[in-house]
Amino acid sequence: MAPLFAATDFSKQRKLLRASVYVLATRDVEEPQAREMLERIGESHGRARRNIRPELYEVWLDALCQTVRWLDPTWSDEVEQAWREKMRPGIDIITSMY
Ligand code: HEM
Repeated sequence: MAPLFAATDFSKQRKLLRASVYVLATRDVEEPQAREMLERIGESHGRARRNIRPELYEVWLDALCQTVRWLDPTWSDEVEQAWREKMRPGIDIITSMY
């Protein structure tokens, strides 16, 4: 398999990721707009297209928490738990479409 990000434009990717993490962190997956975005990502990341295996989202979530831990002096285990719980329903929707 070719490296997943071999041809990626990272300035674009950073903006897309920022926008979608913002939605995951602040919105409810039951909101139609949020759900629509998640289903679009689920489709593009599924087996037939980008083929992003579900276990990679666990690596992704660990990396996200690690990064915020480095950047945010007020980060704590409790805050991390809250982030993980908040991200979970969105990740579940994306991976359920794999
Ligand atoms: C909740 C977690 C994630 C979110 C919100 C997310 C979101 C996005 C968005 C919005 C795009 C651009 C539009 C699209 O192609 O659908 C994208 C592209 C992509 N994502 Fe994700 N993604 C997530 C997790 C992952 C993971 C775990 C991987 C693999 C390690 C991954 C690999 C990719 C790749 C390879 C692209 C295409 C990059 C390119 O244009 O070359 N994503 N993602």
